[in-house]
Amino acid sequence: MITLHINDQQVQARERWTVLETARQYGIDIPTLCYHEAVSPSGACRLCMVELREGEWSKLVASCIYPVARGLQVYTQTERVNNVRRWVLEMLIAACPASPEIRSLAKQYGVTETRFPIHNPEETCTVCGLCSRICEEVVGLAAIATVERGVHKKVGAPFLRPTDVCVACGCCVTICPTGAMEKIFDTVRQAPKQSLVRLAG
Ligand code: SF4
Ligand code: SF4
Ligand code: FES
Repeated sequence: MITLHINDQQVQARERWTVLETARQYGIDIPTLCYHEAVSPSGACRLCMVELREGEWSKLVASCIYPVARGLQVYTQTERVNNVRRWVLEMLIAACPASPEIRSLAKQYGVTETRFPIHNPEETCTVCGLCSRICEEVVGLAAIATVERGVHKKVGAPFLRPTDVCVACGCCVTICPTGAMEKIFDTVRQAPKQSLVRLAG
C-alpha cells in the first residue's frame, strides 16, 4: 500500500491507483465529466483537477489520470483548483449550452455565464468520449468515434453515416453524462428511437 495525504488526511492506496480512485475510496468529492470506472480514463475534460503541493512548490494535475505516489500532498478544494474548475465549466457551457446537466454542475461552482463564444446554442454533447470508449473497450465494436476537429468535433459513426456495426446495445446511451447520445444514436443506426429506448431502458 502507498501512503499519501488528501486535504491533510492520511490515506492509503494500492499501487497504480489514481488520485481520483483513492479520493473516492475515502468519500472525498472531486467532480468529473469524462471519467467512468467502466472505461479507461482519458483526461479530456480537466474538471477533476487537483493541486499537488510540496513546500512552496505546487502544480495542478488531472486526478483521473494521475497515479498515486508515496508522500503526495493532494488538495481538492484550493482557490487554484476552484479557479481552474470554473474556467473549465465556462468552456463547457460554451461547448454545450443546452445541457441542463452542465448548467447544474456549473452552478455548484457559481458559474452561470460564459465568456467563450457559443457556436451551437442547441448542443448538449461535451465530446467527453465516454460513449465511444465504452463501445470500443466494453462492447468491443468501435461503432462510433470522435470525428472532425476543433469546434466542429463531434461523436458519430465513421463519416457520420449510419453503420450496421452498431448492435444497438444502448451502452453508449447509458454512460452519456448529458443525454446527448440518445439523439446522436438516431444518426448512428438510422433506426427508430423506440428500439433504443427499449434496449437501453
Ligand atoms: S454523446 Fe455523451 S458520452 Fe458521447 S461524447 Fe457526447 S456527452 Fe460524451
Ligand atoms: S449502441 Fe451501438 S454505438 Fe452504442 S455502444 Fe452499443 S454498439 Fe456501440
Ligand atoms: S474527469 Fe478527469 S479529465 Fe475529465
